[in-house]
Amino acid sequence: MMAKGKTRYVCQACGAVAARWAGQCAECKEWNTLAEEAAPVFTPFAAKQSLQTGGRRIAMESLADDVALPPRLSTGIAELDRALGGGLVPGSVTLIGGDPGIGKSTLLLQAAGRMARGGKAVAYVSGEEAADQVRLRARRLGLAKADVALAAETNVRDILTTLGSQPTGPALLVIDSIQTMHSDTLEGAPGTVSQVRASAQELIRFAKLSGCALVIVGHVTKDGQLAGPRVLEHMVDTVLYFEGERSHQYRILRAVKNRFGGTDEIGVFAMGADGLEEVPNPSSLFLTNRQDGASVTGAVVFPALEGTRPVLCEIQALVVRVPSGATPRRAVVGWDSGRLAMLLAVLEARCGLGFGGHEVYLNVAGGLRIADPAADLAVACALVSALTDRPLPADGVAFGEVALSGELRGAGLAALRLKEAAKLGFGRAWVPDGTGGGGPMQVAMFRTLNQLVDTLGRPD
Ligand code: TYD
Ligand code: MG
Repeated sequence: MMAKGKTRYVCQACGAVAARWAGQCAECKEWNTLAEEAAPVFTPFAAKQSLQTGGRRIAMESLADDVALPPRLSTGIAELDRALGGGLVPGSVTLIGGDPGIGKSTLLLQAAGRMARGGKAVAYVSGEEAADQVRLRARRLGLAKADVALAAETNVRDILTTLGSQPTGPALLVIDSIQTMHSDTLEGAPGTVSQVRASAQELIRFAKLSGCALVIVGHVTKDGQLAGPRVLEHMVDTVLYFEGERSHQYRILRAVKNRFGGTDEIGVFAMGADGLEEVPNPSSLFLTNRQDGASVTGAVVFPALEGTRPVLCEIQALVVRVPSGATPRRAVVGWDSGRLAMLLAVLEARCGLGFGGHEVYLNVAGGLRIADPAADLAVACALVSALTDRPLPADGVAFGEVALSGELRGAGLAALRLKEAAKLGFGRAWVPDGTGGGGPMQVAMFRTLNQLVDTLGRPD
């Protein structure tokens, strides 16, 4: 039992501790996230005792010393290895976050199966599903014969006692998910911040000591945060997010933290009947219906950058005239609605194109969500084409940032975007001044949005 009366309130979103309950967390301002938890008992520590004596002397090393690069363990899934920065590092801890049902368990079971086939010892612990459920899924994925040690268990002590008593530990340990695990060293239901933290600490200690690569699954709440354990992000070496629309088949695995590599690589997958398939050439996924070369009004292709990887996608705009007096709707899927409002204002103020009497709908085809600021110019092209009812050439792409002044700003890695577009058969590009030529591409450069509108044509 904890010392009585020692209760504290811990925010389940950010981990902040408060002495009294409140409706709102004082740290992260979330509502109704404070939950009562027993406070840990601290060993009393003499406040005046100096820490400058009594310790062990440690050897300070030179920053310039030679380093051995961490060895990498391939997961057998190239897109996963890519997002990890080249594979799993033995003794490291990776957190995979994502919405329920997005495919985290499927991905990790596939990786576990492939690594087992490659001769590695692999343990998969599911706290969410019964062993039979996992077995059924493995069968569906064609992995029934893979030599993966499976357990349906939630008690961390039992899990680690079992793994620790084996002569050789696993090379890969998957914990699915951390929210179902509990440590008997403290009270509290699984999923609370203190349980998640304590369970993770024990698992991480095991990984560091045994040298196994630990992969932890963490669920995300609907507002996009790792449920409860944002604290967990600080404790692990690598954080990957698995994202995508459940109604679409593609999934993107994105690194948001990586102590052993960059965070600019993504892995792309498509969810199919036999599990997740790798998509080495993502552009093909988002442009599937454009192969006939027919041009449509209001559509243009945007070479987006996902990390350092170009991904071509189609931007679609629809503009519908409404009776005067009615407030026109603006609806956006896959892009920021504030950004659309800004772009419409620039088109009106700097180019004299009024959308006030029109409803405006904008869609990024394929369910991709675009955060790349260079999408401005592509969206502008789609809007102008929709408003004037004139199609853009089907072999054209557009990218660049639009400033409030109407001036165009260059986009990052322009050469890479042009190269990818050329590779997929596009022949021309509308881009900001100074972007430079793109090999076989015919590149039209503009200083302002107004100049581009003059070229595309104004409404009759
Ligand atoms: P799952 O891996 O259970 O998601 P998570 O662990 O992130 O909650 O993915 C489940 C979804 O994927 C489920 O809705 C069914 C679908 N799915 C397929 O479409 N094909 C498959 O081969 C598998 C195994 C799952
Ligand atoms: Mg799952």
